Amino acid sequence: GVSAEPTSGNFGGGFRAHNLSTERVRVRKNSSTKKLINDAIVNNDFLKKLDPQHMREMVECMYEKSYTEGQLVIQEGEPGNYLYVLADGLLEVSQNGKFLGEMCPRTAFGELAILYNCKRTATVKAVSKANIWALDRQTFQSIMMKSMQATQEEYFSFLRSVSLLRDLPEEKLAKIVDCLEIDYFDKGDYIIREGEEGNTFFIIAKGEVCVTQTMEGCTEPQEIKTLGVGDYFGEKALISEDVRSANIISIENDTQCLVVDRDNFNQIVGTYEELQAYLREYVEELSRCDERRNALPISP
Ligand code: CMP
Repeated sequence: GVSAEPTSGNFGGGFRAHNLSTERVRVRKNSSTKKLINDAIVNNDFLKKLDPQHMREMVECMYEKSYTEGQLVIQEGEPGNYLYVLADGLLEVSQNGKFLGEMCPRTAFGELAILYNCKRTATVKAVSKANIWALDRQTFQSIMMKSMQATQEEYFSFLRSVSLLRDLPEEKLAKIVDCLEIDYFDKGDYIIREGEEGNTFFIIAKGEVCVTQTMEGCTEPQEIKTLGVGDYFGEKALISEDVRSANIISIENDTQCLVVDRDNFNQIVGTYEELQAYLREYVEELSRCDERRNALPISP
């Protein structure tokens, strides 16, 4: 019969031509789509070990394909040419004709054959009409070939440009690079809500956000300032368990933030007191200085 996953470039007819060269094709997506794909990757036990920069590039390069009810997505025993993320619809997984389970949206699958170069371990079939994002093996490999070192260096120099981290010792900064994640936001999305507990620190990698805060005598939170690439917010979450002192709202579509989680940070950075002391000093210094106090995004 016809293979579920042809290797040719006209897969399903609906795919844009994908490239075999090192020049990768990125496909425009809105940030909720990027978030969906990213969530699926992060929630997959095998894919979550990949480097965040690689994940980000995978998100950018996936292309969409729709399947009709009953259509095979993956056939057990065949070579695997694509990695998938289910966006919409329901899929059924089976092995040797035996039903294994269903797959819901926000799930990545088909990773085993791509990661381990093995035959497809199970059959995946569309139970309903389904929308699926796919990444071909060549693109996946070309993303992975970008050395870990190049990736680390990119992040490293970006983090160096963030004022808060400018004077941080090299090895501390390298540790932070290790525990970065990325999050995507649409225009109007609340990244942080005033009064909520928070344990994440954000650095803006793309886009702009607006900071608003409740003020005496005003019914609505008032806009304090906007922040852009290289600016950060939520830094207090790394040094204390205070609730958020302002709202942070994305004012562009596809705002991207590098996110550092306090626990993650604690775990990976290890000798954390030193950095904590450094951050505390930095925040204190800022609040000593009136002019700069105003520049501190979520200072009380
Ligand atoms: P792969 O072997 O490349 O292709 C079939 C995919 O089905 C496989 O990767 C997994 O993503 C998925 N899969 C395999 N076994 C199961 C299972 N028991 N339950 C759900 N999904 C599975």
